[in-house]
Formats: sequence, C-alpha cells, structure tokens
Amino acid sequence: MSNIEERVFSGIQPTGNLHLGNYLGAIKRFVSLQDDYNCIYCVVDLHAITVWQEPSELANNIREVTAAFIASGIDPQKHIVFNQSQVAEHAELAWIFNCVARMGWLSRMTQFKEKAGKDREKASVGLFAYPALMAADILTYRATHVPVGEDQKQHLELTRDIAQKFNNDFSDRISSLGLGEPMMVGDEKVQGYFPLTEPLIGGPAARVMSLRDGSKKMSKSDPSDLSRIVMTDDADAISKKIRKAKTDADGLPSEVEGLKNRPEADNLVGIYAALNDMDKASVLKEFGGAQFGTFKPALADLAVAKIDPIASEMRRLQADPAEIDSLLVKGADRAREIANRTLADVKEIVGFVGPRR
Ligand code: TYM
Repeated sequence: MSNIEERVFSGIQPTGNLHLGNYLGAIKRFVSLQDDYNCIYCVVDLHAITVWQEPSELANNIREVTAAFIASGIDPQKHIVFNQSQVAEHAELAWIFNCVARMGWLSRMTQFKEKAGKDREKASVGLFAYPALMAADILTYRATHVPVGEDQKQHLELTRDIAQKFNNDFSDRISSLGLGEPMMVGDEKVQGYFPLTEPLIGGPAARVMSLRDGSKKMSKSDPSDLSRIVMTDDADAISKKIRKAKTDADGLPSEVEGLKNRPEADNLVGIYAALNDMDKASVLKEFGGAQFGTFKPALADLAVAKIDPIASEMRRLQADPAEIDSLLVKGADRAREIANRTLADVKEIVGFVGPRR
C-alpha cells in the first residue's frame, strides 16, 4: 500500500444521549460525503471506556449509534460501518503512537483538562492517551479527510503532529522500504507514510450550543435534559424543548452581523439553517424581523420533520439487535483488511520482526 488514496474517516462515542449536535455537526455531514469519497464510519467504543461505562448499557449504546448512522442515510454496503473494538489494529497502532506523541502535547489537550476536572490523579490513563488512539483510528486507514464538529479541532491538529513526527523520524526507513510518498514537512521534503489529515469542520452547525445556555456547547453530559434534543426524542419532546429554549427579548435581525453577542439567537438560527441545508443569511432573509413567538414554532416543525423519521427508523432498527451486530461484524471484517496492511507496513518501518509482507 504505497500510495495514499483519498479517504474519509470519522467516529462517534457510544456514550448515550446522542444529540442534535452530534447529528448536525457530524452524522449529517458523514451522509453528504458518501458520493465523493470512500468513507469509514466507526463507533468508537474503546474511547467510550476512558470514562466508566455500565457494561449492560454500552452494548445498547453501540447499537444506537450504529442505528443512527444507518437511519440517517449512511450506506453500510457501499461504505464501512463498524465498532472500533473489533479491529485490534486501532489499539496496536495507538500503542506505537503513544511512543511517538510527547507528554507535553497530550497535557495541552483541552478536552482532557475538561473531562479530568480538578482531580487529574483520578483520571484514567486511557483518558490522557485518548488523542493518540484517535490519531490511530484515522491513520490506520491513512484517512485524508475527517469530518467533525469544532470541538475536535485540537485533536485533529495533534493527529497531524503525530503523523508528521512519525514521517520525520522514520523517513529514511519509509523510503528504503519503498513505502509512502514524498511530502513537504515545512521546507523539507520527506518520504512520508501517513497523510497529514485535513479536518472538515464548518457549516452553520459546527458548534451547536446548549438550548439552556448559549455559552455552553450541547453535550451528552449536561445534567439538564432541556439543554439538548436527543435523537430518540418524540415530536412532543422536540417541540417542548425548542419552546423552552432560552432566548433574549429582541426579534431576529435581518443580517448575520445582527446575531453577534446574541449566542442563543445565533444558535437557533444555526440549527434551522443546518437542518434545512441553508446558510444563516438565508434563514434571516426569511425570518428577519420576526419574534421568537413566530420563529420557534417554525423551528420546532422543521426539527420534528427532519428528526422524527430518523428516530422512528432508529427504533425499527434497534428492535433487531442481531441484525445490527451482524452488520458491524461485516463492517469490521472489511475495515480489518485495510488495517492489517497498514500495521504490516508500520511494524516493518519501526523495525519489528514478523512474517514477511
Ligand atoms: P463525540 O462522540 O464526542 O462526538 C461525535 C461528533 O459530534 C460532534 N459534536 C458536535 N458538533 C457540533 N455541535 C456540538 N455541540 C457537538 N457535540 C459533539 C463532535 O465534534 C464529533 O464530530 N473524539 C471524538 C470521537 C472520535 C473520532 C475519532 C472522531 C474518536 N476517534 C477519529 C473523528 C476521527 C468524540 O469524542 O466525538
């Protein structure tokens, strides 16, 4: 596998409460990339256990994310859908990357600082090493493009740093084995094995905020249920949460600049835009001057129209767990074929002894 082909990889943690931010910031964009790329979409269960997961719930959460992928329109025949723990190469490459990444790099990760909280001594070692595993997910498939929400930007920069250091450290070896391809690192041309992956972050929903507080992102762990719309909410719940969403007292502006310093209004307009494949300016063209009393019901109708069919398809799929599990096994078999080749190359590059390629 000498040349790097264009490929999309992304992952979602099966930690429950899959929400509108996950859908608009990630899953909906996964769907839209399918025509232009070969895509690999992964349920990252190894990442999930960096914080405690109840074993009886974990399996269902893995199936729930898988169901969300399929119900949203990802085609598991054409593309690859699987759960991470079935492909051991992720953990193997992560170990090698643990030896490439530096303590200082990982110590600067804001997600680690947030999740570990004040008592870092009590955080799992896995939570600290989390970004090296994420780099391994991506680079096991030498993926060139990774669609994610804004909150993953720093992790993707780290993935590039790891790829770059690996390419630099082993450049001579990569070249003498006839692997990889020439690439520029700064001003220097090196023979690189791993691509410098490009993040695909953007659109009006790259960072969906809490419905209760426009300064916090919508998250699975917010104690308030009203802060997020989850993919399993029914029409009543969706409408209620939008009706109760925090807003200011003014009407909607007619220009995007008018959303500045109005985080809650900005968030609702962004959600409307993303759900309806528009930009914020077009939403404001339609609703500029309207009060929230008009806009919220329109948003609720739109959200119900888009989310409800996905939710009912998810319920239908989840009623047959064996079918989901078999889909994941088939996806993992296909993923492993690619992963195997990468790991064979990497082991040879590093200098391990094993069967010849
Ligand atoms: P996770 O499971 O926290 O989130 C899954 C995806 O949803 C996006 N997202 C959001 N987008 C917009 N607004 C929000 N409020 C919001 N909340 C979450 C996330 O950015 C993400 O794209 N570390 C990753 C999982 C991962 C991964 C990977 C991603 C593991 N390996 C390799 C890409 C490539 C995570 O925790 O996502």
